[in-house]
Amino acid sequence: MARCFVTRELPGDALDRLAAEHRVDVWGEELPPSPEELLERAPGAEGLLCLLTDRVDVPLFDACPELRAIANLAVGTDNIDLAEAERRGIAVGNTPGVLTETTADLAFALILACSRRLVEAAAAVRSGAWHTWEPRGWLGHDVHGATLGIIGAGEIGGAVARRAAGFAMEVVLHGREPRPGQVDLDRLLAESDIVSLHCPLTPETRHLIDERALRAMKPTAILVNTARGEVVDPAALRSALEEGWIAGAGLDVTEPEPLPADHPLLDAPNLTVLPHVGSASHATREAMASIAVDNLLAALAGRPMPHAVAT
Ligand code: DGY
Repeated sequence: MARCFVTRELPGDALDRLAAEHRVDVWGEELPPSPEELLERAPGAEGLLCLLTDRVDVPLFDACPELRAIANLAVGTDNIDLAEAERRGIAVGNTPGVLTETTADLAFALILACSRRLVEAAAAVRSGAWHTWEPRGWLGHDVHGATLGIIGAGEIGGAVARRAAGFAMEVVLHGREPRPGQVDLDRLLAESDIVSLHCPLTPETRHLIDERALRAMKPTAILVNTARGEVVDPAALRSALEEGWIAGAGLDVTEPEPLPADHPLLDAPNLTVLPHVGSASHATREAMASIAVDNLLAALAGRPMPHAVAT
């Protein structure tokens, strides 16, 4: 029986399966443990089930010499120092696959909401600012027939492209590895009516969407980010929205996360920001919890994780 530290209560009954085999300590607060709280509470753990909000790096590894397995409740693993985990022989797993379609649904919801200005329009109804049907009122941009640029040609990008086919959209793709049919980034930015981000956060993609990229987009274009906040430079995005380099943006993820209520980006026009809910359906979050527990159970029993991260 190993000691496992779990950094948050999870949906469903996956943690019961972990507790049936191991001694499980769950962080029960509303907010995630701070790095200091993690360093206080995790030592002694052989298994760690953590979230994208937890920094898992050298100080934590040093404080937890018994650590053998880390299960991240996310497909992204940018919160974990993977090279250091590998060096120390610690197995790392993630939750790919199960959140692909749910995240693609959310990306498409943002594409529709931003293109057709749904959030502003709904707010006007509630505030009493809508007075009559108006031929020039709430004009947005058509999604059907538009050109959709997908940056990040992985599973989620592919799932968004499948949805786009139903809207008769033209899809252009840009990914890490050049593949037939992909275009270079500059061409994608220049041609797309909507640019949707689906790349992992890496040193190469940090602030990939910077001032240069935003200025290369059409003034009528919409930017959607359901990947990681740090892929977009928030100061450049604010200028882009204020000065009309692009028409609007829909963000499920931001840098930092959450944005403080007085963050300058929140004053920018034509911006919709969500609280990182890409995978937030009952079924998907329960499936993610189940996979994370499967990963931990396997590694603690000396078996390969079913969803091991290649380090
Ligand atoms: C992930 O899995 O990386 C998402 O951002 C959270 O669902």
